[in-house]
Amino acid sequence: MTDTLHLDKRQRAMLAEMGVRVWSPMTEAAVMLAPAVDIEPTQAIANAIKPAPILIQRPEGIDHMDWSALRTTVTGCQACTLCGSRQNTVFGVGAPEAEGAAPQVDWLIVGETPGEDEDRQGEPFVGQAGKLLDNMLGAMKLSRTGAHTAEGGGVYITNVLKCRPPGNRNPKPEEVAQCLPYLERQVALLKPKMILAMGRFAVQALLRESVPEVDGTPLGKLRGRVHQYQNVPVVVTYHPAYVMRNLPEKAKVWADLCLAMAHLKGAE
Ligand code: URA
Repeated sequence: MTDTLHLDKRQRAMLAEMGVRVWSPMTEAAVMLAPAVDIEPTQAIANAIKPAPILIQRPEGIDHMDWSALRTTVTGCQACTLCGSRQNTVFGVGAPEAEGAAPQVDWLIVGETPGEDEDRQGEPFVGQAGKLLDNMLGAMKLSRTGAHTAEGGGVYITNVLKCRPPGNRNPKPEEVAQCLPYLERQVALLKPKMILAMGRFAVQALLRESVPEVDGTPLGKLRGRVHQYQNVPVVVTYHPAYVMRNLPEKAKVWADLCLAMAHLKGAE
């Protein structure tokens, strides 16, 4: 996908008709360097004045989209600069979809951001952290693509951001803000019975309203109780990548999974 749109007046008018607003953020460098056109620019200057991607704001009406419209919208999303560096959007993976409708699931696993492998394959948690997540699901007698049965068990896995931040840097608040409506709609359509929030950014995104001081609260202090997001119970746990670097924390993650399983069982 190109990172720059070359839209003429007519195309812009058509997009405006469709309710799509187009905006072009001028970089600071571009503003500062733009008047220097009478000097032969070096390649470095030419790169510096390369315009930032022209971004199309998220379409209106995400909160009314069905599953397939939501997926299509995410695939074409250009609402933040990550669209310029991604290979693929990463919408999510899980139990089979029924003719384009949201899969039937009990569990929603929310991670943070796609990494390099996920960006390449367009699927969440396919790298090393994903292997650990698959083992955790296996220990719960669940799997990433297992169908929902009479005994329950369907799972969906997604992330707060649907695009990879370059170099696996942390997500920026404005990127989270632009992407969050997609996760909100995924939760509304999936109607899971339990959400597992894995890692700091997932926890902050999901508990912002129910725990106003969430940004300043260590994740460890939010474990061990059941929170709520859109009236769905949420259990907080460490991110698998963190656990891989801190193996003794594995036992705490297992305790979190047991809390979530017990809560789900108790609610039935
Ligand atoms: N870490 C995440 O949070 N999500 C992924 O999809 C992969 C790694």
